[in-house]
Amino acid sequence: SGIITIDPGYKNTGACESAITYLDGEKGILRYRGYSIEDLAEKATFLEVIYLLIFGELPTSDQLKKFKSDIDDEAIVDQDMKKIIDGFPKYAHPMGVLSSLTSALIAFNPSSVNVASEGDMYKAIVKLLAKFPILVAWTYHKRTGLPLDYGDSSLGYVENFAKMMFQKPNRAYEPNQVVIDALQKLLILHGDHEQNCSTSTVRIVGSSHAGLFASISAGISALWGPLHGGANQAVLEMLEAIKADGGDTKKYMAKAKDKDDPFRLMGFGHRVYKNFDPRARIIKKAADEVLESLGVSDPILDIAKGLEKEALEDQYFVDRKLYPNVDFYSGIIYRALGIPVEMFTVMFALGRLPGWISQWREMRLRNEPIGRPRQVYIGENARDYKDIADR
Ligand code: CMC
Repeated sequence: SGIITIDPGYKNTGACESAITYLDGEKGILRYRGYSIEDLAEKATFLEVIYLLIFGELPTSDQLKKFKSDIDDEAIVDQDMKKIIDGFPKYAHPMGVLSSLTSALIAFNPSSVNVASEGDMYKAIVKLLAKFPILVAWTYHKRTGLPLDYGDSSLGYVENFAKMMFQKPNRAYEPNQVVIDALQKLLILHGDHEQNCSTSTVRIVGSSHAGLFASISAGISALWGPLHGGANQAVLEMLEAIKADGGDTKKYMAKAKDKDDPFRLMGFGHRVYKNFDPRARIIKKAADEVLESLGVSDPILDIAKGLEKEALEDQYFVDRKLYPNVDFYSGIIYRALGIPVEMFTVMFALGRLPGWISQWREMRLRNEPIGRPRQVYIGENARDYKDIADR
């Protein structure tokens, strides 16, 4: 009852109070639990940031050791899960595979569904953090055809993930520090972003007291879309198309501004950032560094920089406050690391996992009510039923 106001896309509707991520879109500020994204990307490891996001404080070395050891204890996935992967065609999009596998984890870990206490919650969280990187690597190797393994828990969280991804079965594995550092940074930058589409999805699914894994699986589906996490794949495909078209950035700028053309400049614009996206700044610098230290020269990077420069000077983009977002340069780094384009959004999901988990945990600990928006009905008035012969 009462007056219902509609706010399509929830542009001005707050859904919760949260103590996790602070974001000022006008000033381009992003902080996790009070720590600036610039500091965290430069100084922390992804595992420290995972702990920070979920539990609210940076871990002491003892806390981090215990946390890692709890994760290592769970770093296994039931062999039968491989049969589920086998059932997918090789060309299946990795995001669909990943969300299905995450959902399938529920069947193999039913005790993780009911989280009556904070202790139960911790167990479910640790299980997911341990198994998710394995599922990501398996999703990738569904495509490469290489064997699925469980990694090596004696390595760090990101180091172990890199090994599961990049190790060739017939070669000794040599970790590449440039690759590890770039992965740490990218994953940290994607760690959380307050009430975005996938996080809101996780919270709303979790608000029905569906378990953590089901809520995260739904979040993965939400992230898949090209207006959200799927933009990182779309950016690279767009840059490739521009390159194949002779590098004609002007043509694509014109298309993006044409209101009769559905084309948008992928990797540009953001619901909240109306000045710049601080993550994009860090990623642009990292892209330069990674390409240089790996000795990769990628014409796509030049096209991206050219496009950015043109857009920043263009009245259409200036008027609408459209700046490059986190996805504009991330794909260029992923590509330099040898990660195929269909996997980009999966990498985003791995980075966003701690954000989803911490938002889900916060929601449950605060005993938030079930998410259930209202509507304004605009359909038919009451009418008499018509027998099928009379319709
Ligand atoms: N290219 C061309 N025009 C654009 C773009 C773009 N990338 N983004 C927004 N606009 C225009 C839009 O047409 C509208 O113009 P007008 O006022 O004349 O109708 C105006 O700018 C405002 O756009 P909007 O769609 O109302 O803004 P929104 O807040 O609903 O959408 C967005 C935000 C990110 C979905 C949108 O900017 C977009 O589609 N960008 C491209 C996709 C992309 O890069 N997404 C990744 C987002 S960041 C990663 C993440 O967290 O998911």
